[in-house]
Amino acid sequence: MSQTGFPSALDFSKRRECNSVAAADNGQVITVCGWVYRYRDQGGVLFVDLRDRSGVVQVVFDMAIDAELLKKAESLRGEDVIAVIGKVRLRDKNAVNAKLATGEIEIVATTLELLSKAKPSPIPLDEHDQEASEELRLEYRFLDLRRKPMQEALRVRHEFIRTVRNFLDGEGFWEIETPILNKSTPEGARDFLVPSRLNAGEFYALPQSPQIFKQLLMVAGSERYYQIARCFRDEDLRRDRQPEFTQIDIEMSFIDKEMIMALNERLIAAAMQSAFGVTVDAKPERITYHDAMELYGNDKPDTRFAMQLTELGDWAALTEFKVFKGAAETGRLKALCVPGGASLSRKDIDDLTQWVMQDYKAKGLAWVKVSETGLESLITKFLPEAAQQELLKRTGAKAGDIIFFAGDRADIVFATLSALRLKLAEKLNLIPDTYKASWVVDFPLFDWDHETESLLSVHHPFTAPVPEDAHIVKAAANAACITPEMQKALLKVRSNAYDFVLNGVEIGGGSLRIHASDLQQAIFRLLKISDAEAESRFGFLLKGLTFGAPPHGGIAFGVDRVLMLGLKRASIRDVMAFPKTQKGTCLMSGAPSPVDEKQLRELYVKSTAPVAKVR
Ligand code: AMO
Ligand code: AMP
Repeated sequence: MSQTGFPSALDFSKRRECNSVAAADNGQVITVCGWVYRYRDQGGVLFVDLRDRSGVVQVVFDMAIDAELLKKAESLRGEDVIAVIGKVRLRDKNAVNAKLATGEIEIVATTLELLSKAKPSPIPLDEHDQEASEELRLEYRFLDLRRKPMQEALRVRHEFIRTVRNFLDGEGFWEIETPILNKSTPEGARDFLVPSRLNAGEFYALPQSPQIFKQLLMVAGSERYYQIARCFRDEDLRRDRQPEFTQIDIEMSFIDKEMIMALNERLIAAAMQSAFGVTVDAKPERITYHDAMELYGNDKPDTRFAMQLTELGDWAALTEFKVFKGAAETGRLKALCVPGGASLSRKDIDDLTQWVMQDYKAKGLAWVKVSETGLESLITKFLPEAAQQELLKRTGAKAGDIIFFAGDRADIVFATLSALRLKLAEKLNLIPDTYKASWVVDFPLFDWDHETESLLSVHHPFTAPVPEDAHIVKAAANAACITPEMQKALLKVRSNAYDFVLNGVEIGGGSLRIHASDLQQAIFRLLKISDAEAESRFGFLLKGLTFGAPPHGGIAFGVDRVLMLGLKRASIRDVMAFPKTQKGTCLMSGAPSPVDEKQLRELYVKSTAPVAKVR
């Protein structure tokens, strides 16, 4: 065995990938390299499972063939990096391992070189061992990424992006890079800021998306742009959100909504097929925002299963229940029928009630169970026979089902029943294991922010209203004050936006853009962005729009979210090489971390944090 660290005498150009060695190589002398995965010492014979990126192959050190070599091999430990030269031979019939691609053969070693000695791994790397804690996995990510599921994630991610690139190249798109050091782009999250050393007191913002740049590329005449773009958003993290993530970012000129949607349907179908071997409907169903909310309580409905919400606003009058009647008058009353839900215990229902009251601001959660003999509930006394019959008719409920009610402000009703629908469908195993895509279309342009009492963009402020509604926007923007009627009309303005939803996850969203600067200015005014503020934040876009902007539109897909779905991983962290924790930290490198005073002085920055945290 030669010594670690010295240049190897081996000819790496002769190296074969472990997984490529097969019965056809019987009798050949070959070279393989990799990591010691498992080893079994059987006294006189040592078996080493050698692993590289491609897979695993069995290497045999046999006293009968080379006693000296066996002795050397006995000092090998897990994750040591070695090179082996040896002769391929067929395994005995009873030693064939059908589970292993190379299970028919083994390599009888004649030379062994230790390329690198490894300390014992702090996390189990064997696919059969229980996974280490996520903290430890993230701290030792370079080891964690050696594990099969993580290697698989990286390989499939590469395959997915490769297919996207090839597809868009074939459609005449140019891949164009846009800057990372930017002015802020409004996508609704906080910016990450970078202080400028050369411009005292000034800051760059990392892009929340390349939105403004891709629009200016259309003004610049690029016509078809895409980028595998890194985006940065300083927002509260969840299992499907990271502070930096990757988009397939697309923009096109001289197109309409149908053309964009059709192209992206083909793109996603092709990439899902090649990366995951999954067939998604090439013509996904389209659901209007209105229907998505009314039927599922959610603008990203999981349509793999039905369980649609039932409208009960006009039904409330048939009951004698004050809660329902009041809600129907001042807000909304809807129901969710859960097939088989009568099996839920009182405690289950109490827990669900607590949950929707705490997390979704519901005031309660009335319910009725349906049995062969009729309805069972604390509130049946308020439901005359006619109301009961009508309820069964509308919900389609059968014996064994449970019906939940939510009566409240519309947004609370939707949020409550949508969350309940998803939770119970999962608990009761009602979600089929398939892929179902849909487009959600006809979003309103504006939403009402109950906290700030003002309009906000549902998508982003560059999204175009449908042409028929543009006059409402312009008239309101030019009015001295917004009357309640105008406000009502504004909240009904339809946008030319579309979201791509897969299994209840919004994986992409886009729109046709405003390509006239006066309409863009009108939108800013309605969003309470003053002319001066619009000029200072987006002046370069407004200017660009006055120099000959073609009609344009586009979309962005979240690569990490698609990977999560395609690979069926519970966390977005499991499809990224080096992700951040829920607190936005990197456990491997220790980022973010304090910097020294000198660095801060050079950047004209002074920290107001009470004490630098020691982690
Ligand atoms: P949007 O903000 O909807 O649109 O983002 C597009 C897609 O990016 C993914 N995504 C995320 N993935 C992981 N972590 C996050 N924090 C995160 N935030 C968003 C989602 C989402 O559908 N400029 C527009 C696109 C356009 O109009 O063309 C934009 O960024 O899958
Ligand atoms: P109460 O009359 O407040 O005792 O409520 C009777 C039942 O109605 C309980 O199961 C409550 O959880 C439920 N409930 C109360 N308010 C609402 C509401 N706004 N929407 C749905 N159910 C409610």
